[in-house]
Amino acid sequence: LARGVTEPDLKGRHVVVSAGGTSEPLDPVRFLGNRSSGKQGYALARTAAARGARVTLIAANSTLPDPAGVDVVPVGTAVQLREAVLKATAEADAVVMAAAVADFRPAAYATGKIKKKDDQEPEPITLVRNPDILAEISAGRSRPGQVIVGFAAETDDVLANGRAKLKRKGCDLLVVNEVGERKTFGSEENEAVVLGADGSETAVPYGPKEALAETVWDLVAERLS
Ligand code: CTP
Ligand code: CA
Repeated sequence: LARGVTEPDLKGRHVVVSAGGTSEPLDPVRFLGNRSSGKQGYALARTAAARGARVTLIAANSTLPDPAGVDVVPVGTAVQLREAVLKATAEADAVVMAAAVADFRPAAYATGKIKKKDDQEPEPITLVRNPDILAEISAGRSRPGQVIVGFAAETDDVLANGRAKLKRKGCDLLVVNEVGERKTFGSEENEAVVLGADGSETAVPYGPKEALAETVWDLVAERLS
């Protein structure tokens, strides 16, 4: 297939993409968050729609405009993201977890603003684990042949960590990118290696997030047919 030519190879398919980053509230004015912009997930949603898929985009705290022709479900926390992903995934052919999910959330939510006291050191914040959504949907595929894709940003031993993570999560593909100064967070460009559970390795050179998205859908489409 020639580059730049969009084939409707995902026509008749329903795909779910999660994007953005979860936010875990501490009190009505504060939260624990992360630096995910949502750009990679939105690029995945746009390109899947252009390839003919019905797309559900579960968007965690993104300020990006809704892509045309995409069903957008806004969420805030990891627990809300899990609910939305499980619901949409029940009837999906493929799921791509591009969202940055907080591993932990504050154990307690203060309904009133936490105030400092002049004569006291701050209270430590106790965290509890969030559910691992990718591992959960991979373990309990809601449809035979459903293709599940995860993302991982790593700083060290990128490929070895990626392989171990792919196995641990039980997904079909894992997009691994190295986190660096100008890469990944908030930028328009990305560089990655897509690892397959079948042992495959697809390098995606530094370039627009759209190009990485197209490669992900190429690999998904191969596995769907
Ligand atoms: N993920 C998820 N639920 C979580 C954490 C992560 O579904 N609670 C998904 C992310 O959306 C991503 C993949 O799992 O697709 C890998 O996320 P990552 O943070 O790299 O994995 P972790 O298992 O949390 O490993 P680490 O300790 O390196 O953060
Ligand atoms: Ca994590």
